[in-house]
Amino acid sequence: MSKVYELGFGNTENEIKIEKLEIQGIIPGWLQGTLIRNGPGTFKVGEQQYRHWFDGLAMLHKFSIQNGNVSYANKYLNTKAYREAKATNQISYSEFATDPCRSLFSRIMTVFSPKITDSAKVSIAKIAQRYMALAETPIQVEFDPDTLESVGVFNYEDRLVGQMTTVHPQFDFEYDTVYNLVTRYHRVSHYNIHQIVGNTPPTKLSSLPVNSPSYLHSFGMSKNYFILTEFPLVVNPLALLLWLKPYIENFKWKPERGTPFWVINRHTGELVSRFESDPFFAFHHINAFEQGDELIVDLAAYSDASIIQSYYLQRMQSNLNQLPSGNLRRYRIPLKGKTVSYETISDSCMELPNFDYARLNTNPDYRYVYSVSVNKEKNLGFYNQILKVDIKHKKDLFWFEFGCYPGEPIFVGRPGRANEDDGVILSVVLDERAGSSFLLVLDASSFNEIARVSIPQPILFGYHGAYFPENHEKSELL
Ligand SMILES: [Fe+2]
Repeated sequence: MSKVYELGFGNTENEIKIEKLEIQGIIPGWLQGTLIRNGPGTFKVGEQQYRHWFDGLAMLHKFSIQNGNVSYANKYLNTKAYREAKATNQISYSEFATDPCRSLFSRIMTVFSPKITDSAKVSIAKIAQRYMALAETPIQVEFDPDTLESVGVFNYEDRLVGQMTTVHPQFDFEYDTVYNLVTRYHRVSHYNIHQIVGNTPPTKLSSLPVNSPSYLHSFGMSKNYFILTEFPLVVNPLALLLWLKPYIENFKWKPERGTPFWVINRHTGELVSRFESDPFFAFHHINAFEQGDELIVDLAAYSDASIIQSYYLQRMQSNLNQLPSGNLRRYRIPLKGKTVSYETISDSCMELPNFDYARLNTNPDYRYVYSVSVNKEKNLGFYNQILKVDIKHKKDLFWFEFGCYPGEPIFVGRPGRANEDDGVILSVVLDERAGSSFLLVLDASSFNEIARVSIPQPILFGYHGAYFPENHEKSELL
């Protein structure tokens, strides 16, 4: 994947603003709103290279869709990590799998306070009326959605509460409440669940002690429960206090622990029970709901955590790198029993999954999941197609074009729709042949292309974004 590697894991030099992008096809009139995406803007500082896909300096991308036209702007998030990189031409902050060079690092870190990045590049959410760039540290960066200017670091958690959080908060739109999981590393560590109701400060809803915390990128939520799926990729908190290795390299895969599901009562914050299951790993919970005495949890699951190793840039530079395949698995947790079971709904590779979250989160009737995927016949070493899984009929649908590498697909429903998939899929696609990116608009039902909107430069491989409808009554966030 050499050319696409240079494009997708390179360096964005230009911050641009274009009022009217070139469009092939016709954007539906009802599609009025803004897509904001987050991800690395560069994998290089001076002569230094970041090591992993989850490293890099954050860049925001904004597509405003109005009356059939699309404008675009991109901007680096103005953080300490960014400013110091600019000023010194060196990597100065610790990232997911990259530390600054040891001599520099040792001067600026203390044992209890490593200099962890504030470059919040993983996802976007609107929390307490603020537009936030989210990171796995509880340091979130507020930005202005009109200008993409950074407003500042918003410490919605203080360091005493915890050091790591997820970039996938769960929303209860009916009660204007946002939940997130925060891990506090200590002699006895804790998984804490916080809630923010409206604009009020966060409060702790649940706090569960744990000896060896797991790497948790997301968590599940049904109507009455939170689900912490405790993958056996765990850390001895002392290792993080000493910080001899980059963050993620302190975690060890211990399959003998299995993957227990911690089920927590959403109303009391108390642990209902831990349900044991065989070991597996996932970044992303998709949906969860209750059905009779069962709790159903859908995830994009892997047999182990080797996907993290596969995302090292050195590995991805090689054409031989085959990404381990995540799959849509449905776990069934018997609330009155013991034995957890699962079925694989689709054997197509699945990552960065999405669905109609705003309407159907926690709803048993949800039917469609969208994701990036690797084409089985034309495996080019990275995600090169978009997948739609029909859970009800266990059928897969794809969008594929040779030389194209789509990013996270985001579903936008047509207002007033009766069918779940009546709407569009938005995905930023890197086109290796053109050496640039385009915004793809797919009919979410047929997966036929409706329009593509060209951007005159490549957009690096990013992670998550959010779409904000122009006249939204409730946030349609993912
Ligand atoms: Fe994620």
